[in-house]
Amino acid sequence: MDGLIIRGATIVTMNDAFEVVEGDLLVRDGRIVSVGFVPDSERADRTIHAHGAFLVPGFIQTHIHLCQTLFRGYADDLALLDWLTTRVWPMEAAHTPASLAAAARQAASELLLSGTTTVLTMETVHDTDAVFEALDPMGLRAVVGKCMMDADTAVPARLLEKTQQSLDESVAIAKRWHGRANGRLRAAFAPRFAVSCSQALLEAVAALSQEHGLVVHTHASENRDEIALIRARTGRSNIDYLAHTGLTSPRLCLAHCVWVDDREQSVMAEHGVKVLHCPGSNLKLGSGLAPVVEMRAKGISVSLGADGAACNNHLDMFEEMRLAAVLQSVRKGPGSLTARDAVWMATREGARAIGLERELGSIEAGKRADFLLVDRDRPQFMASHDPYSTLVYSARGTDVRTTVVDGEVLVDAFRSTRWDPDAIATAARTEAAALAARAGF
Ligand code: GUN
Ligand code: FE
Repeated sequence: MDGLIIRGATIVTMNDAFEVVEGDLLVRDGRIVSVGFVPDSERADRTIHAHGAFLVPGFIQTHIHLCQTLFRGYADDLALLDWLTTRVWPMEAAHTPASLAAAARQAASELLLSGTTTVLTMETVHDTDAVFEALDPMGLRAVVGKCMMDADTAVPARLLEKTQQSLDESVAIAKRWHGRANGRLRAAFAPRFAVSCSQALLEAVAALSQEHGLVVHTHASENRDEIALIRARTGRSNIDYLAHTGLTSPRLCLAHCVWVDDREQSVMAEHGVKVLHCPGSNLKLGSGLAPVVEMRAKGISVSLGADGAACNNHLDMFEEMRLAAVLQSVRKGPGSLTARDAVWMATREGARAIGLERELGSIEAGKRADFLLVDRDRPQFMASHDPYSTLVYSARGTDVRTTVVDGEVLVDAFRSTRWDPDAIATAARTEAAALAARAGF
């Protein structure tokens, strides 16, 4: 016998019809078998009585840097390029396999405890194996990219790579890890951004992404100084430059896209490029307000991420959903991005961004059993009747009672089942202090 039964939930399916189903869920072999009615005669290893809790597809954060979790509080109150050159890059250069593992564990603990089940993460240049190894036993689903940087003099020597070496290492990591842990761990190419990558590197990544069918995860048009640098260097807008390198394809995932004009958005739409919106990070770094309503109107997939803990500083998807909605309310008027749209971006669009729309993103028979239960009886939920409103405008990560990935219960009654959050936090604190000392902070 195996399997998991959830009884008596309010299931926010996020299927195409946006059905909300009062009922049960049956999971076997890590996949959803049925949604709605599960007969009493059905047997499973474990039955969880949801007591009316919201059952929601696991959140998919499509832009994050697990490795930056140890930098939280060490890089506040700066704009992007100073933030990178004076704080974040020196700290990334000071990472060791042990500090990377501590950062990944701390991030995974926070993410799973607050309902994020999948991440697309850009790690640092070196030692990405340590991140995969740390994530494997914890149960987080992750698409992990080794950061690639082979240009720009502001990059610390330890992080600056030779072009071919960066490509070879990225391919070697994909060979070692892509598809491991029953498909839960995947690899991506992660050229950091056009500023710190040569054109030869970007062109080679475009070809390798096509050859291997892997996602390309990069940053684009986050900040006005960044796009000015690219224009000065290439004579093109950032998006035109990326298109010129051959990178624009449905596998291209662009974090931020705050400063993309109408014509660039059309190029992105035409090529099926994905946008990874990070409202919390855009606010804290003062990057700007992304044209999310306009991009969605053009049919561009816009999903959500917290970005790193050094520029947010939460890793809580509920916060990003709320910010996504309220920022568009300021830009384009209330209702221009509804609470339901925000949940869609956090689930279905996330799955689409990483090419796993057939596997993830909704509560439907056949999909992987990745979901969370949000307690119904929180004081700040009273007396809302609408699940989307409650999830986006009232809920926080601390309201997550249960988190399940691949049918495995990783958070149960607000407690992690596979790791000790206190031990992980203690290690994170120790490693962060040592790392900051190595970086000279
Ligand atoms: N652009 C290039 N690198 C980074 C990074 O680490 N974080 C953010 N927010 N933007 C970037
Ligand atoms: Fe980022």
